[in-house]
Formats: sequence, C-alpha cells, structure tokens
Amino acid sequence: MAGDTADTRPKWLVRNSRPARRLHAAVYVTTGFLFFSGISLLGEGKPALEAVLGGHVPAAHWHRWIGFGLVGLSALVLALRPVASRKFLADSVAFRLTDLRWFVTYPSFVVRPSRHNPARHEGHFDPGQRAMNLVIVLSLAVLSLTGIIMSFPQRLTPMTFAWSLRVHRGATWVLAGAVGGHVLVASGILRSYRGVWRAMHGNGAVRGHLADRLWPRWAEEQRGRSEPGSPVRGVPGQ
Ligand code: HEM
Ligand code: HEM
Repeated sequence: MAGDTADTRPKWLVRNSRPARRLHAAVYVTTGFLFFSGISLLGEGKPALEAVLGGHVPAAHWHRWIGFGLVGLSALVLALRPVASRKFLADSVAFRLTDLRWFVTYPSFVVRPSRHNPARHEGHFDPGQRAMNLVIVLSLAVLSLTGIIMSFPQRLTPMTFAWSLRVHRGATWVLAGAVGGHVLVASGILRSYRGVWRAMHGNGAVRGHLADRLWPRWAEEQRGRSEPGSPVRGVPGQ
C-alpha cells in the first residue's frame, strides 16, 4: 500500500554547507582548548588542570600557539571567503524595530513550545542568535588582540601587560556566557529547539517545521528555490 499513500517523509532543509560545518567544528575545538588551557593558567595557575597539558610552561606554550592558530584560521577565512564573511556579519547586525516583538514572545516559546510560537522575524538568524553571534565574534577579537599583545611581554610596559591580562580575563567570562547560552540552545536540550543541532552536524539539514518556527523567512526562501513539488532537500541518513 506504500505506493498509494502520499509521501509522508518529514521535509528537510539544508541550513549550513559542509565548509561552514567544518569551520564551525574547527572553531569550537580550538576555542574549547583555549578555554581549558586558559583556565588552567588563571592567576597562579591550577596545577591539576595544567598537569593535563604537562605543567605550567607547556600549558602557556600550547595556549599561545593554539591561540595563534585560531587567529590564523580567522585571517584565512576573511581572506579566502570575503563574501561569506561579510554576509555572516551583515546577517548578524541587521536588527529591526519589529524584532522587539520576537524578544517579548520568546520566553513563552522556550517554556511551552507546544502552545506558543515566537513572533515572526525577517532575518537569516533569529534576533537572539544575532546578539549571540556579535558577542562571540567581539569577545574572540578582543581575546585575540590582547593575547597577541601579551605574547610579546619583553616589548611591553608592566602596565600594558597588566591591562591586557585584565581585559583578556574579562573577555573570557563574556565568551563563556555567550557560548554557554549558545550550546544550551543549539544542542537541542530545550524542547523548543529539539533537532536544531543537526544544522551544524551530520548533513546540516533541519526539519522543515522547525525551520518554519525558528527562521520563517529563510525557510520560505529555501522552499521557493526548490523544484515545484519536491521540497525535500536532504534527508539525514540517506
Ligand atoms: C577562546 C579564546 C581564549 C580564551 C578563553 C583565553 C583565556 C585565557 C585565560 C583565562 C588566561 C589566564 C589569564 C590569567 O592568568 O589570569 C589566558 C592567558 C593568556 N592568553 Fe589567552 N585566551 C584565549 C585566546 C588567546 C589567544 C588567541 C592568544 C594569543 C594569540 C592568547 C594568549 C594568551 C597569553 C599570552 C596569556 C598569558 C599566559 C601566561 O601566563 O604566560 N589567548 N588566556
Ligand atoms: C566554542 C564553541 C562554539 C562557538 C564559538 C560557536 C559559534 C557559533 C556561531 C558563531 C554560529 C553562527 C554561524 C552560522 O550559523 O553561520 C554557530 C552556529 C551554530 N552552532 Fe555553534 N558554536 C560553538 C559550539 C557549538 C556546539 C557545541 C553546538 C552543538 C552541540 C553548536 C551548534 C550550533 C548550531 C546547530 C548552529 C547553527 C545555527 C543556525 O544555523 O542558525 N555550536 N555557532
């Protein structure tokens, strides 16, 4: 009878390309390492954590070099993918007055997704994601700049080093807060976001009905681009 029934497979929309997913994974592996090694160096150092990296000196050494790796990776992406980089930034700064309604309706959506939808927004990212993207990008930029400055202590006055360290430490906690919120939402632990992790893992596709709630305009555009009658753009596992 399978041939007589309509195609009831869930519809999937591809949200992020393979290069975007690889870049995202590279960023979170390097950032994860920098968090760990950075925290191990905090203050006088945390011997138990530093021991994992072979002691204080190796921990500081690897922290610096992986830090330079992250700076190099960012420079490479900006140089090789200027259009995609500009689009990401433009999509992240594009706030509209109507986004205020989204913020008002958001808490009830998170608490009871079966009863409430967030208000419609017109962005590629929802307004919360946009704010999170900006905080992550800015704090990583500040960490990179102050990290590079501190890597040449012999050229600095003690005052410049002390201020760089203070700002570096502050930016660490700002980044930790933003990434913590991002992982809580994007991992799909919350019912309202179940399945969203696939947007950056596997084949980068999410279910159409989830996309309709989170990114309505983007979902409409994607369907508009599909062949008439074939809205299935990718099914994980096939
Ligand atoms: C996710 C990004 C990063 C995080 C979370 C982070 C975190 C930290 C933390 C918590 C410390 C210890 C501060 C203290 O002693 O109180 C530190 C130290 C330091 N970081 Fe970073 N950092 C990051 C990126 C970078 C980058 C990109 C560089 C260099 C290019 C860098 C270079 C340094 C240097 C030179 C120190 C001083 C290490 C020492 O004691 O010799 N960091 N970082
Ligand atoms: C240090 C850790 C992380 C950082 C700095 C980070 C940063 C980002 C940024 C800047 C974006 C927006 C990029 C874009 O969509 O073009 C993003 C998207 C995303 N991230 Fe992360 N991320 C991290 C960890 C994670 C983890 C652990 C998960 C899942 C378990 C995750 C899941 C996602 C998903 C699903 C998206 C796609 C959202 C969308 O398509 O709109 N991220 N991340």
